[in-house]
Amino acid sequence: MRQIHIREVGPRDGLQNAHQQMPTATKKAWISAIAQAGVAEIEVGSFVPPKLIPAMADTAEIVAHALGIPGLEVVALAPNLKGFERALAAGAHKVTFPVSASRKHSESNVRMTPEQMVEEVRKCAAHPHPGVIVEGAVSTAFGCTMQGAVPEDDVVRIAAALAEFCDHVSLADTVGYANPAQIRRVFARVRREIGGKLRTAHLHNTRGLGLANALAAYEEGVRHFDSSMGGLGGCPFAPGASGNVITEDLVFMFESMGLSTGVDMAKLLEARKLMVAALPEEPVYGHMALAGLPKGFRAAA
Ligand code: COA
Ligand code: ZN
Repeated sequence: MRQIHIREVGPRDGLQNAHQQMPTATKKAWISAIAQAGVAEIEVGSFVPPKLIPAMADTAEIVAHALGIPGLEVVALAPNLKGFERALAAGAHKVTFPVSASRKHSESNVRMTPEQMVEEVRKCAAHPHPGVIVEGAVSTAFGCTMQGAVPEDDVVRIAAALAEFCDHVSLADTVGYANPAQIRRVFARVRREIGGKLRTAHLHNTRGLGLANALAAYEEGVRHFDSSMGGLGGCPFAPGASGNVITEDLVFMFESMGLSTGVDMAKLLEARKLMVAALPEEPVYGHMALAGLPKGFRAAA
């Protein structure tokens, strides 16, 4: 049984920011390989205007493919009602909405203020969506490259507003500004406000604190983590944003602590090879992939 739930976000957070486009057929094979490794939830793409992010133009086809993988929870990002309708038409199981706590990032990312974006998500949640999970993701929750500090009160207020009509709320360190003490403090504050609706930590490794922050979130009770294979990732509308916490390293950390992720490391590294071959010019990261498993390593039961 999984004690830690890892959601691979490379096909969305990673590929939206990659210098090269991954061909649709390769994306499908990569997603299948990630699922084959035991990852039970994948954010496979986003329903944004194709002109804005051409790498996400094939998301409907990618969702259709992912729906054919038994047991996989298929997630897509949407920035507005039009994106939500496209996600519903494609059959996504869960739709995640980015709501920036930073005013400047919100305006750059979705051309709406945080308040307008909360209202946009409210409108989507009121739109019929039988069986589909709605997730509100508070982005730039730990700082912003454009605005600088993001007041914790703003994060708590937005998370509480989203919790009124979303099934889940996640907190995202979009630009990798968080430190472990801050992670503990903010997750604890938001949890006091919205309880079990607070679910996922979405962390970036921009300043090397991705794993430390994941551990801090774990100690604060978080069991759902977003991560990206090879540490791909970053927001094209947040200058200086770079890769997510690295899936391979995150799996290794939890498994070596005796916490089961359900992920098979050897198969994960096979999926990584496929991605690296498809994006030869993209910088990829990961200590696990470089060093290999320690002698005598045993995955958590
Ligand atoms: N999917 C496809 N097309 C969409 C769309 C969607 N989700 N939302 C809007 N459009 C189309 C509109 O129909 C319109 O098309 P037209 O010019 O042919 O009439 C055009 O895009 C502009 O629509 P508008 O509502 O004015 O959007 P905008 O230009 O103000 O952009 C967002 C707002 C939210 C759509 C855009 O900023 C966005 O997609 N942001 C997300 C960026 C992102 O993915 N960031 C990284 C993940 S956090
Ligand atoms: Zn991200």
